[in-house]
Amino acid sequence: MYTDKRKIIIAVDGFSSCGKSTFAKAIAAELGYIFIDTGAMYRAVTLYALEHGAIRSGIVDEEAVVALLGDMDIDFRFNPERGASDIYVNGDLVEGKIRTIEVSNCVSPVSSIRQVRGKLVAMQQAMGRKRGVVMDGRDIGTVVFPDAELKIFMTADPKVRAQRRYDELRAKGDDVSLEEIEANVLSRDRADMTRAISPLRQAEDAIVLDNSHMTVAEQMQWFRERFDEVMRG
Ligand code: DC
Repeated sequence: MYTDKRKIIIAVDGFSSCGKSTFAKAIAAELGYIFIDTGAMYRAVTLYALEHGAIRSGIVDEEAVVALLGDMDIDFRFNPERGASDIYVNGDLVEGKIRTIEVSNCVSPVSSIRQVRGKLVAMQQAMGRKRGVVMDGRDIGTVVFPDAELKIFMTADPKVRAQRRYDELRAKGDDVSLEEIEANVLSRDRADMTRAISPLRQAEDAIVLDNSHMTVAEQMQWFRERFDEVMRG
């Protein structure tokens, strides 16, 4: 279907637990593009900070996090079993450790540190240089790639989002409560939207996708129509 050789950049931004990664990954697989989950990068920094004493009892020591940044080498390596890339820090596979509630509870303050964003945004821009990427995050269409040809802003009912994240964590065997997840989803929305640097907001030229009551197949159908419109110019 997609024979056009012109590769574009697709930015997928939106609230937490909207299914951005699932959607972005499916798009990338269909188009043969590279999928980059930028939330995983902020989570990896947070995990590293937790493991190296820069976050204690949930309190983030900004200076200590910034001091650790130079020691961290983050990279993605494609995992054919998952059909997506796994994230590594200093050569260690951390993919399985970055989606715990402990990391989720500390990732917003870490992601609001200017130097953290500076380092990760520069890496993201370098990864998109060859184009043909689908990148999901909070500031992709506004800051990382303001000229992306297709920008999608995803949203869904907070209750639906909390239930999805709850099901995901329970399936992994995590002992969490729905109330705890709901509180985390709402507080991260608030923190992401109100932080001083690169707050979560819809780019003016982004198209909104509310997937509260949509299956992945329906979202993909919606996407194909938008993609065709962009490629037709
Ligand atoms: O997409 P996620 O829930 O895994 O992202 C984790 C956190 O990282 C999220 O609460 C906000 C932050 N984040 C960000 O500030 N900018 C991005 N581009 C991606 C994520």
